[in-house]
Amino acid sequence: MNSLVTKCLFLIVMALIIRSLLLPNSISVRVFEYGEFIPGNNVRRKFLEVPQIVWGLNNQKIAFARACLTARMLNRSLLMPSLSASLFYKEIDQLQPISFDKVFNFERFNSLCDGFVSVSRYSDVGNRSNLIEVQKGSGRRWTLERDLDQLKEFSKRDYDAYETIRVVGKNPFLWHDHWPVSDYAKVFECLVLVDEILKEANEVVSKIREFGSEITHDSLQQTPYVAIHMRIEKDWMIHCKKLEQRSNVSNICSSKEEITTRVANIPTLKPPTTLYLAVANELLEDNSILNGWKEGMHPIDKKRLGLTDLYKKHPYLIQAAIDYEVCLRANVFVGNSYSTFSSLLVLERTQKTLKTNMSHPCGNNVRWPSYAYNIEGESNAPQLWITNLSDSTLQAISYGSSSVSC
Ligand SMILES: *[C@@H]1O[C@H](CO)[C@@H](O)[C@H](O)[C@H]1NC(C)=O
Ligand SMILES: *[C@@H]1O[C@H](CO)[C@@H](O)[C@H](O)[C@H]1NC(C)=O
Ligand SMILES: *[C@@H]1O[C@H](CO)[C@@H](O)[C@H](O)[C@H]1NC(C)=O
Ligand SMILES: *[C@@H]1O[C@H](CO)[C@@H](O)[C@H](O)[C@H]1NC(C)=O
Ligand SMILES: *[C@@H]1O[C@H](CO)[C@@H](O)[C@H](O)[C@H]1NC(C)=O
Repeated sequence: MNSLVTKCLFLIVMALIIRSLLLPNSISVRVFEYGEFIPGNNVRRKFLEVPQIVWGLNNQKIAFARACLTARMLNRSLLMPSLSASLFYKEIDQLQPISFDKVFNFERFNSLCDGFVSVSRYSDVGNRSNLIEVQKGSGRRWTLERDLDQLKEFSKRDYDAYETIRVVGKNPFLWHDHWPVSDYAKVFECLVLVDEILKEANEVVSKIREFGSEITHDSLQQTPYVAIHMRIEKDWMIHCKKLEQRSNVSNICSSKEEITTRVANIPTLKPPTTLYLAVANELLEDNSILNGWKEGMHPIDKKRLGLTDLYKKHPYLIQAAIDYEVCLRANVFVGNSYSTFSSLLVLERTQKTLKTNMSHPCGNNVRWPSYAYNIEGESNAPQLWITNLSDSTLQAISYGSSSVSC
């Protein structure tokens, strides 16, 4: 009797050991299979190739999303485009092309956007000669309607014969826009930074929080902070004055004094508060931006945090991507409604807000609130700001606007 029980136990234990030895194997087999056979209905065997994507980080994100949505309309996958690491754009050979997957996580993008849009590698193309080159129309007579007609033409069966459609000419940021804000928002949600850049952003955020816990004298890991995207550098001031004249509005440029005064009036900010100033590099040499804030509001910038070297080792695009991530995670964000950087941030923050405050996204007590410092709200505070996700075009974000929905 006893020995039978022992034998049984022995067999059970053996079975368990064998199973545990086999299990990791069978998991890795499955992972391997997944890599080999991408689920059938997501395979898009036809591709769209677009010109190099240029300009600021967020111009590039918009251009990328527009290229993805164009590919979606043509029932094609977008061939991984080149982004530009440098902001310098007067001479095309100095744009420092950087591959999409050096900035954004390629696998995460395709898994998050699965069924909506996809990005492919050049190695996915079967026959690189099976290609048609297409010049996108331009000029004043090339209207939105004509552009749409051209896209419809390319979606037709005649073009099915070509494995790749290569669009030549202008950067996709300058293409006509045919898609609602919600489509862009879906693409932006799939753009996750690669781990190396996320690691740098984490370091900046924890430095800011450390500073915060020193001034509040508590040891909370999650000390809140406000991020302020201040556009007051010379280039911007010249640009925004011109824009004000051209569009006959007076609330695009804000001086440093206007920004500090309005931020001081945000009703929910109870001192002591940490203010992270996201500013252009040239302003880091100007210590006066750290002065003049209301008592109890403690401004810091990269230089004061000792992070100049962390940023400097990266090209423009990566620096901007880190700053973007830091502003995205801020408890409160304050920006300029005419800046593409601010506007895209508010779009993503609005999506986060809507997840917790669906019915009243415009209240002062929402999570992830954002404000536009260039627009005067109640009691001389900056105006609360959310993106209208039902808007039919991204125009407002691409070119700036004083309509901030709240
Ligand atoms: C889109 O492409 C897929 C794969 O190439 C194909 O099965 C599907 O029929 C296409 N859809 C349309 C609407 O053309
Ligand atoms: C590749 O495509 C070109 C152009 O359509 C065609 O002439 C050629 O035969 C194709 N090559 C192969 C190996 O299919
Ligand atoms: C500019 O706006 C002001 C007030 O908003 C208006 O009185 C004026 O006529 C406008 N000027 C032009 C050229 O549109
Ligand atoms: C937003 O959601 C948070 C968390 O659920 C809640 O505490 C807050 O009262 C909400 N605010 C509004 C304006 O609904
Ligand atoms: C959002 O956009 C839609 C479509 O353009 C419009 O009907 C609606 O009034 C807008 N909502 C706000 C709050 O501006």
